[in-house]
Amino acid sequence: MKTAIRYYTKSGNTKKLADAVAQELGIEAEDITAPLEERTDLLFLCNSVYWAGVDGRVKQFIADNKDNIGTLVNVSTSAMTVSTYPQIKKLCGQSGVSVSDEEFHCRGSFKMMHRGKPDSDDIQAVKAFARKVTGDKNE
Ligand SMILES: Cc1cc2nc3c(=O)[nH]c(=O)nc-3n(C[C@H](O)[C@H](O)[C@H](O)COP(=O)(O)O)c2cc1C
Repeated sequence: MKTAIRYYTKSGNTKKLADAVAQELGIEAEDITAPLEERTDLLFLCNSVYWAGVDGRVKQFIADNKDNIGTLVNVSTSAMTVSTYPQIKKLCGQSGVSVSDEEFHCRGSFKMMHRGKPDSDDIQAVKAFARKVTGDKNE
């Protein structure tokens, strides 16, 4: 099974999750400037909420790479709102990309809020999530 990890981060929080998934799966996490060069069964897309939305570069990445995404697994951080899952699911629906029902979300620090998040518990949790999702796919 071909698995890839891409992330978009402004302040580093989401990269922490992407790097944890990478460490768990033994593959590299790259930022979204790296296109998917080949068909990927499972794509962990790590992203965040900015001004209540998904960054335009993340939207563009999905549109540009849609033909190489088997199933997208959403991993996100935010300071206040729910995860980016609903928006990503909608965007993917428009592009014909399948999205896993399983997602990972945790708080990310923003100004004075949620200092230290994602923290070590979040890192362990996202690793367990990555194990579970890839394990389910291999069954
Ligand atoms: C410019 C900006 C706008 C943000 N807007 C929101 C928002 O509307 N809702 C929210 O819950 N968090 C918001 N946040 C907080 C981020 O979602 C949170 O800090 C996230 O962990 C950032 O991830 P990153 O460090 O990978 O960029 C915002 C953060 C930034 C930098």
